[in-house]
Amino acid sequence: MLKIDHLTKRYGRFTALDGLNLEIADRQLHGFVGPNGAGKTTTMRILATLLSPTEGTAFVDGVNVVKNGAEARKRVGYMPDFFGVYDNLKCREYLDFYARCCRIGAKERAQMADRLLDLVQLSDKRDDYVESLSRGMKQRLCLARSLIHDPKLLILDEPASGMDPRARAEMKNILKTLREMGKTVLISSHILPELSEMCDSLTILDHGCLVFSGSVEALAEKMNGNAPLEVRLSETGGENALEAAVTCLKELPDVKEILQAEPFLLQIRLAEGSEPAEILRNLVVRGVPVCDFHRAPMNLEKVFMEVTQDDA
Ligand SMILES: Nc1ncnc2c1ncn2[C@@H]1O[C@H](COP(=O)(O)OP(=O)(O)OP(=O)(O)O)[C@@H](O)[C@H]1O
Ligand SMILES: [Mg+2]
Repeated sequence: MLKIDHLTKRYGRFTALDGLNLEIADRQLHGFVGPNGAGKTTTMRILATLLSPTEGTAFVDGVNVVKNGAEARKRVGYMPDFFGVYDNLKCREYLDFYARCCRIGAKERAQMADRLLDLVQLSDKRDDYVESLSRGMKQRLCLARSLIHDPKLLILDEPASGMDPRARAEMKNILKTLREMGKTVLISSHILPELSEMCDSLTILDHGCLVFSGSVEALAEKMNGNAPLEVRLSETGGENALEAAVTCLKELPDVKEILQAEPFLLQIRLAEGSEPAEILRNLVVRGVPVCDFHRAPMNLEKVFMEVTQDDA
């Protein structure tokens, strides 16, 4: 459904997006994660034909967004990160107005507004003025607006930012419904755990470069290989146990770093390709009273911090 081909955007001498390549299959919910300034909005604006790339291009359902913007726009629904809503329009009128802009006939328009309001769970706000809606409700209305022309690809730039937990849960349900309707969705956020819960696949972007792209499971697997090891010491070993363990670990070339050393618990990072069993054997041979030895579970927040360097 979406193929991004060497997409690059420079603002003067600053490179905001650096040769991004990415493919997203039909009916995927794909998360786009990265810290502030990573290039998410830049990418999304290019896909929505609102910004021209410096180099490269992208294809939505086979249509080149740079060369054939008008055709691409028919296939893309875009919800920006910041949007305005018109005053003095009720929710239903608001959607009707945009449907007219898309040249949708009167009969179809009448049903569409109600159907979309139902989809985004705003039916009870049908005759309320748009400016009276809360922020989260406005976001849902804007999502409904992006669906008016029945696009195949939805590009949602931080649709859940500022939403309370219940509104976020509702947004997740709406996204699932969209996938069931056959849509492909690209959704950005800073919150990796949240996206990983609802998406089939993820791309992590940092400083305009792709850091990771693949399934949520593949990301967890990749990160687990690098996860630190936790060594727990038996309390019966007394206070000297920690000292003995640290002395031993410092002598082992495969131990890259001792991340944490407190009574009865150590966390260490091993050099790539080294064998954890060898570390355990050395500790035991030296009489260190190890009572537990395992990889520290990596939570996704930690993964995000690790893969996006220092400014995440
Ligand atoms: N019009 C512009 N002129 C100059 N630099 C820009 C412009 N738009 C964006 N940038 C720069 O490009 C980089 C990427 O910005 P972008 O808005 O794509 O990031 P983002 O990943 O969406 O960040 P956020 O999470 O804060 O929304 C940033 O360093 C930003 O300052
Ligand atoms: Mg942004």
